[in-house]
Amino acid sequence: MDRRVATTDMGKEILSRIDQLAALTETPGSLTRTYLTPCHREAANLVLGWMSAAGMDASVDPVGNVVGRYEGNRPGLPALILGSHLDTVRDAGKFDGMLGVIGAIACVDALNRAGERFDFAIEVVGFGDEEGVRFQSTLFGSRALAGTLEAAVLESRDADGVRLADALRAFGLDPARIDAAARRPEQVLAYVELHIEQGPVLEAEGLPVGVVTSIAGATRLDVRLKGEPGHAGTVPMAMRRDALAAAADAILAVERHCTATAGLVGTVGRIEALPGTVNVIPGDVRFSIDIRAEQDPLRHRAVEAVTNAIAAIGERRGVCPTVRKTHDAPSRVCAPWLMEQLAEAVRGEGLAVRRLPSGAGHDAMAMADLTDVGMLFVRCERGISHAPAESITAEDAGTAARVLLRFIRSFTPTQERS
Ligand code: HGY
Ligand code: MN
Ligand code: MN
Repeated sequence: MDRRVATTDMGKEILSRIDQLAALTETPGSLTRTYLTPCHREAANLVLGWMSAAGMDASVDPVGNVVGRYEGNRPGLPALILGSHLDTVRDAGKFDGMLGVIGAIACVDALNRAGERFDFAIEVVGFGDEEGVRFQSTLFGSRALAGTLEAAVLESRDADGVRLADALRAFGLDPARIDAAARRPEQVLAYVELHIEQGPVLEAEGLPVGVVTSIAGATRLDVRLKGEPGHAGTVPMAMRRDALAAAADAILAVERHCTATAGLVGTVGRIEALPGTVNVIPGDVRFSIDIRAEQDPLRHRAVEAVTNAIAAIGERRGVCPTVRKTHDAPSRVCAPWLMEQLAEAVRGEGLAVRRLPSGAGHDAMAMADLTDVGMLFVRCERGISHAPAESITAEDAGTAARVLLRFIRSFTPTQERS
């Protein structure tokens, strides 16, 4: 069969499975699939079936990750772990996370059909919670595998007040066993994640894939401003302690600081103003801040500067601020030996090698506490992600799967960690 046709066919199969996953949503008409919900369970069941059909022993681990294992030449060998996440942001695109899980299963399926086994096992993981939308528990699934979860996270509550520990129980899991999901370093050879670029570089340069060099560090803050509620018609402007006007000042301070400093990005993605009534001056406002940079010192200085700016705004406006860090992940570099083996596989498919950093966060950040990590990016249309317009072509999905398959076939573990 013509190679390009074979690639596109593989890509079409990947996209068809991604469409099936995209139908499993909490919000009919758009895609939102969060951790430990019924549609997480449905997605897990679908992926378990595909993993089994690809010749893997598949199961759900103690924190709700879906794990498939394809043994090597003999049972119990250390594993090359592939995968990504199965959860989404709200009103999401359907490729973020899903492509990495389904693409890896497609590769194992091809190996299984060809009867190919290696001196290492292959595991594919569909992490249950990377975005942290429901419990603010970013990278929860991959941190569990890396053995870096803190027990306090079990006390996190969702918007309905449900504790993460109770949601695990409702999912049929035991919160006392979350540590059992952790892997020992000697069991793992490397972690490699296939993911859409979520940016415009590959498309702008006419390239289907890229080798990731590093992943930007990220800090997420939860800010609360307590002012004084009041009657919109009677309180003179000079006497107000308007928490929403103060939040507006703070949000513009985040934008000003991050715009003025190259290499920084800052976003306020969520805000709630209480009591949320048209004729009441808001007295209580909560909003999120997400700050990222490739260089950790730059990000740390930005978090400090923004926190100081919020304190000064509170002082000036008579509003009391509290700033709580809800997530802090250091930037990570991908292992040179994995970047080189991924680059070799890209060249082997007759493609130009483009190395590029990731501004987005990924499960690879958490897995880097356990093993060396590498990432392969796939071009996405107009670089759009975290939005319904997120899109890739069947041909690019197939090309990426062929590169990953070539990488697996020539994978040569290294002895020492980078
Ligand atoms: O926020 C991120 O970069 C990732 O999508 N969780
Ligand atoms: Mn995402
Ligand atoms: Mn992602």
